[in-house]
Amino acid sequence: MNTYGRIFRVGIFGESHGPCAGVVIDGVIPGIEINRSVFEEDLKRRRPGISGTTSRAEQDIPEIVSGVCNGVATGAPVTVLFRNTDMRPEDYEKFKEVPRPGHSDFAASVKYNHYNDMRGSGPFSGRLTVGLVAAGAIAKKMIGGISINAYVKELGGLRDESEWPSAIEKARREGDSLGAIVECRCSGVKPGLGEPFFDSVESCISHIVFSIPGVRGIEFGDGFSASAMRGSEHNDPFCGSDGKTSKNGSGGINGGISNGNEILFRVAFKPASSISKMQRTYDFVREEMTALGISGRHDTCFALRAPVIVESVAAIALADLMLVAE
Ligand SMILES: Cc1cc2nc3c(=O)[nH]c(=O)nc-3n(C[C@H](O)[C@H](O)[C@H](O)COP(=O)(O)O)c2cc1C
Repeated sequence: MNTYGRIFRVGIFGESHGPCAGVVIDGVIPGIEINRSVFEEDLKRRRPGISGTTSRAEQDIPEIVSGVCNGVATGAPVTVLFRNTDMRPEDYEKFKEVPRPGHSDFAASVKYNHYNDMRGSGPFSGRLTVGLVAAGAIAKKMIGGISINAYVKELGGLRDESEWPSAIEKARREGDSLGAIVECRCSGVKPGLGEPFFDSVESCISHIVFSIPGVRGIEFGDGFSASAMRGSEHNDPFCGSDGKTSKNGSGGINGGISNGNEILFRVAFKPASSISKMQRTYDFVREEMTALGISGRHDTCFALRAPVIVESVAAIALADLMLVAE
């Protein structure tokens, strides 16, 4: 459903062009300091503004409406909401009849018997990740000595960062979009978190990473390239009594359990589906194929906004794993 976690439980709500989007967080340790400034830096990193991102301008002012009294968490569920102020619902009306290729329009209409909110893609919008980032900011406070750092590693298939601005500009000019790979490193994670099988650290992280709209894949450590390696290449030689290894091909997890090395994973983000370049799709009212060019405000490369979202969900997953292990 719309909730993640066993003890540190995060539920997101709202729609892109409804009154608000937000998050309810259960399991916050009482006494943790929570005020608007806790969210500020991470919200700023998620906000559009740089080239390749949408021109939609939301203020993202966090309203803490429950679970905090006198600036500290009380132990009751913390609710943070963000009012939507910059909406243009008319841009989306026709997608129920003429669904965007690659987007949620068709699948959601079938699932919700056409009652789904189409405005700004409703609950399927990247807008909803504002709640994940708010929950992540609190999770980061709860996981103490762990530091999490995510960044764009590759954009549109290009490793060299200096080539990104022109690639973005070219895609934008051509009415198209670009994907990217975001790499995330979590250091300071103690060995022993996670379970074999269903609640492995990889399973818990992957579960929540795939809740980010537009994610197409995740790999840990050597990931897919491990399948082409020999054991002698992929194995992580131990080099100390604390379990540290001289390389980290398993991404800090063995048998589903953290091994004390950096948890390292990469997330593949697709190019945005909403592109102005003409695409073929089906008109469900006229019952015929048609051409669709999508207007409105969209991210040419929404993955540029994703590193902080990836950090946030990693923090949520680790906070929950740590509380389960206590
Ligand atoms: C921060 C963020 C911003 C996004 N912006 C757009 C956008 O402007 N246009 C678009 O088509 N998709 C955008 N997406 C992706 C869609 O929300 C996503 O593709 C859609 O919900 C369908 O889900 P799926 O791609 O996981 O199948 C964005 C995603 C994120 C995380």
